[in-house]
This record gives sequence, C-alpha cells and structure tokens, in this order.
Amino acid sequence: DKQQDLQGKCVLISAGSTVEPLDPVRYLSNNSTGKMGFSIAQAAQQRGAEVILVAGPNHLALPTGVNYQPVKTAQQMEQKMLEFYPQADFVIMAAAVADFRPMRTAEQKIKKTGLDQLTLELVRNPDILLELGNRKQQQLLVGFAAETQQLLANATAKMQRKKVDLLVANDVSRADVGFGTSQNEVVFLRPQADPQLVSKRSKSAIADKIFDLLLDLDHQRRK
Ligand code: PMT
Repeated sequence: DKQQDLQGKCVLISAGSTVEPLDPVRYLSNNSTGKMGFSIAQAAQQRGAEVILVAGPNHLALPTGVNYQPVKTAQQMEQKMLEFYPQADFVIMAAAVADFRPMRTAEQKIKKTGLDQLTLELVRNPDILLELGNRKQQQLLVGFAAETQQLLANATAKMQRKKVDLLVANDVSRADVGFGTSQNEVVFLRPQADPQLVSKRSKSAIADKIFDLLLDLDHQRRK
C-alpha cells in the first residue's frame, strides 16, 4: 500500500481535451486522451487525497474513489473548475483546453451543397489556468505546457504569465511521450528555481513526482 501522505488534501484535476461543437455532428478538438490527468487523479486517490476530476470526453476507465465531473466544452470545464476551486489545496490543469471555439454552433448539420470553400470563424475561449492563477488563495497551482518547439523558452514564458507554482512542460512533437502514450518525459519549472528534468517514465510515476514536489512546497510554506 502507498503512503497516505495526501490524506486531508483536496486535489482538483482537469484531464483530456475539450470539444467545441460546429454543428450537431462535428466539433473541433485535439489529441489529448486524458491519460495524463487520469494518472494524476489515480495517484492522488491512492495517496489518500479527496480527488475531484474534471474531464473532457474520453475512453478511459474511471479511477475508483474520485468525484468525477464530465464536461465537453472549455466553458463547461471553466465552470466546474471555478466551482470546486475554493475548496481545493492542490489544483492541476492537465487538460488540453481548446484556445478557440466556433463563433456560432449551427443548429442543423452544415451542408456542403454548392460550397467549394468554407471559412470558420472562431472566438477565444477563456484561459482557465490564468483565471485560477488570478484567484489564487491557499491553493498550490500546477499548469502543463504542451510544446512542439523551444520547450524551455516557451514553457518558461507560460510559467511567468500564468502565476503557477509549478509548470510541467512536455514535448508533444514526440511519438514516445506526450499525447496518448502511457509514458511521459517532462521538465518541472518553478519561479526562482532551475529547471528539473524528469526523465521518461510512466505517467503514474510522473504524477507521483508532482505530488512529492507539491508536498515539499506545502511543508516549506508552513514552516
Ligand atoms: O491526455 P494525454 O493523451 O495523456 O496527453 C497529455 C497532455 C499532452 C495533454 C498533457 O501532458 C499536457 O501537456 N496538457 C496540457 C495541454 C495544453 O493545453 O497545454 P498548453 O501549453 O496549450 O496550455 C498551458 C496550460 O494552460 C495548460 O495547463 C492548460 O490546461 C491551460 N489552458 C490552456 C488553454 C486554455 N484556454 N485554458 C487553460 O487553462
């Protein structure tokens, strides 16, 4: 049995992609399967935390013993994250949230008849992590950064902008880690600390590293 070192902690996690509907049968989305966020939820539950898992559509088995909150769109995810935020101690945004959504969702299936081209108009979705950062009270806040180039430079900029306590950067151009895989390789970025490489390992093991660090930070600030 695992050490119950997260007992008494409430952990709020987002996982998977969001889907943004174009019409009743089509949507915009991305490659996130939810594995990373589900692994984090399972690790937290096994270490004794109360876990709330807000997840986009996925094909994964539900981790046992978690409060599961399924959502579809970024706006729904935002609403759920804000609802549970006040009671959370550790908050981890592992979801791949769509940055844009269609400006309009057609009520009926869009017809191709007579069309050689179709232009979609998109509008910005809320940046959930940024909002959580701005409302931070007692929470330790963790973001992810999915990059396809200049991992360290791009992720460092995100860490500074989003007021997170920890940013977990991963290279999603690789086939062996990132989206859909059972393993990941990440860099931990924290304000005023050197980047720390967490070499390739299971997403569960990455999750445990995240909680080891969060417990450390939590103990430090209680001193
Ligand atoms: O689900 P898997 O198949 O296991 O894949 C895992 C993963 C690659 C999706 C995961 O490891 C990961 O990187 N998740 C974050 C994906 C992402 O959206 O990254 P980003 O760099 O675009 O966003 C930065 C941070 O802001 C993320 O914490 C994201 O959740 C958050 N964000 C982004 C946009 C937005 N509108 N609102 C947000 O809160």
